[in-house]
Amino acid sequence: MKVTVTQIFLLLLLSLVHSFAEQRSSEEEEVERSQFPSGFLFGAATSSYQIEGAVLEDGKSPNNWDVFCHIPGGIKNGDTGDIADDHYHQFLEDIEIIHSLGVNAYRFSISWSRVLPRGRLGEVNPKGVMFYSKIIDNLLLKGIEPYVTIYHHDHPQELEERFGAWLSPLMQEEFVHFAETCFENFGDRVKYWTTINEPNLLAEMAYLWGRYPPAHCSAPFGNCSSGNSDTEPLFVLHNMLLSHAKAANIYRHKYQLKQGGFIGIIANTLMCEPLRDIELDREAAKRALAFYIAWMLDPLVFGDYPPEMRQYHGNELPRFTSEETKLLTQSLDFIGINHYTTLYAKDCIHSTCSSDGDRAIQGFVYLTGERHGVPIGERTGMRRFFIVPRGMEKIIEYVKERYNNMPMFVTENGYSPPEKEDEQEEDLVQDAKRIEFHKAYLAALARAIRNGADVRGYFIWSLMDNFEWVYGYNTRFGLYYVDRQTLRRTPKLSARWYANFLTNSGHNHVEDANPGSFKIKDAYFLD
Ligand code: BGC
Repeated sequence: MKVTVTQIFLLLLLSLVHSFAEQRSSEEEEVERSQFPSGFLFGAATSSYQIEGAVLEDGKSPNNWDVFCHIPGGIKNGDTGDIADDHYHQFLEDIEIIHSLGVNAYRFSISWSRVLPRGRLGEVNPKGVMFYSKIIDNLLLKGIEPYVTIYHHDHPQELEERFGAWLSPLMQEEFVHFAETCFENFGDRVKYWTTINEPNLLAEMAYLWGRYPPAHCSAPFGNCSSGNSDTEPLFVLHNMLLSHAKAANIYRHKYQLKQGGFIGIIANTLMCEPLRDIELDREAAKRALAFYIAWMLDPLVFGDYPPEMRQYHGNELPRFTSEETKLLTQSLDFIGINHYTTLYAKDCIHSTCSSDGDRAIQGFVYLTGERHGVPIGERTGMRRFFIVPRGMEKIIEYVKERYNNMPMFVTENGYSPPEKEDEQEEDLVQDAKRIEFHKAYLAALARAIRNGADVRGYFIWSLMDNFEWVYGYNTRFGLYYVDRQTLRRTPKLSARWYANFLTNSGHNHVEDANPGSFKIKDAYFLD
């Protein structure tokens, strides 16, 4: 039988239409609470610096972000976290709005400089401890599980000035002291601890691009007054991993059995797809994940950096002692995953790339959100965040496969709309796009769970509009709208949608999520 060119063309067209339709329908799938396991945590997330304000109140010392925000030109519109959402004074009202969502968990972080204003050199600040104790107690009273991040980007400025904070191994003992202060004061009530939020993103933003404090970088990545983008991110991440491992070790030995909680860490994740349909870019996409995600997770599961990194980096990639390897590999009960975007990856080993992709620190990969000018997914308010729900399923699959299906939580996933001039509250609270976003990402997550991934919770970033780091307050991720003049919180359409989604279910009580019935496989009880 002879096949004509037209027939081949028609066949190709048909298969394209079919795969497009398949993709659309799987991404538009309806999602329901009942598709998630019983005991699944559904929450919203925030972090101390982004919402608290009360910059120097009740004994809090200045932290790295307090100082950074006051350097002219650092933050969009000159915004600072001095007042933020004034959560420090409005936390009781905020717990009411958390409760009204019907969530069974709330993720927040502890401000280091509020609890230990001078780090190890000074005393614990009782007012700082009291603030978080009240939050925890009031959450529990409402049946909401506190899910606590010990460190989310903010530390006392004094540590920066004394020894260069994360650049120095001295930071490890400081962190362990801070973490232990948290276990001691809150661990009787907190069952879910995450030590550090996104070491990989922090290393990159602060020491490669120089956009977060202490703004270190070098060419071609940026023009900072000091730093070395090719090596410093490696040292900083190394110190963060060892800090996590040592803190987890203390938790296991002194607190875990008595307090009965679990400890993990949070990775910033992105998904990568090949830019060109060629083997080189398929390899580049894998390499990008190794150099960004496995960079921080491999040492915690296997005891060393990924082989790809050892292959392309020289001696600048630090080594772990056998003692450290042991601590690292016993330090995780679960993995926290923050997921927002998918990007295209282009190989830079054999192909020509712009200068920043052409470096070992980037795994010789160039990442972009566009192919021939067409974005990989709908654009959002963040330059590198595109709406690609299938990325959620793929990233969960990646972590599941690489780390032997260790328990996971999606600790952040969220949407901010592109900024428009003169946008009013009335428009911003009508956030149908955010609802669409969460439905699609939750449907993708449900598919990953149906495929066997051990995912145990999902937190929307964020509870309310807040200080979006270098983008300031105009980038709005909240389920609640926050008026910058009055600081009044108003539920957006998405808050009502989330509440509806959660109440149409029989499995939303905190008892279902009780860690007693929450069997973590392979939890390490060393005593
Ligand atoms: C961070 C949040 C941040 C969010 C949106 C995450 O990397 O943990 O603090 O607000 O992304 O950019």
